[in-house]
Amino acid sequence: MLTVVAATQNEHKLRELRDILEKSGMKVISQKDAGLEKTDVEENGETFEQNSFIKADAIMRLSGMIAVADDSGLEVDFLNGAPGVYSARYAGEHKSDLDNNNKLLKELSGVENRRARFVSVVTMVYPDGRVIYARGECPGTILEAPRGKGGFGYDPLFLPDGLDKTFAEVTQEEKNSVSHRAKALEKLEELLK
Ligand code: IMP
Repeated sequence: MLTVVAATQNEHKLRELRDILEKSGMKVISQKDAGLEKTDVEENGETFEQNSFIKADAIMRLSGMIAVADDSGLEVDFLNGAPGVYSARYAGEHKSDLDNNNKLLKELSGVENRRARFVSVVTMVYPDGRVIYARGECPGTILEAPRGKGGFGYDPLFLPDGLDKTFAEVTQEEKNSVSHRAKALEKLEELLK
């Protein structure tokens, strides 16, 4: 069985990566399990691909094991793709998901075009230098007020196409059936075959 370290300190992402990759027969361990609990990696890339590689490469080097990272974010059409790679720090460094959601609602106040998409780039980096990239996207709409208590990030504001619930109202299974991260991981699985 292939064992990989998930290069993330986000518990939600770890669960989503684990749920999906373990179905493909991989064992996913956390950074903590690999003895790397407090690891700050500077995400100074300008694309999801660059940041995803930076995270996976750093954890592969520190652990000596195959590492997998997700870099993801929300692209809003009216905002020309913002917040994009800056999604986690849209309202500023060390601000909360709530602050980011409030900033997004303010930027879209009175705006009719609320089309957006979540994007995820999953990167797997091997100690021998091999790198595999897989991108997934999930189109949807930004609501005018949050709905639901589950999930993380922009989940309460995001209504994915084809579902009548926000990502904060669905079960993990429902989210995994359409999400950007699930699509990227499915593509990764195909590339690994
Ligand atoms: P990263 O850790 O730099 O990849 O930051 C990704 C950010 O994008 C998160 O902090 C969230 O704000 C947002 N994001 C990415 N994926 C999701 C998701 O599945 N639901 C809600 N927000 C997400």
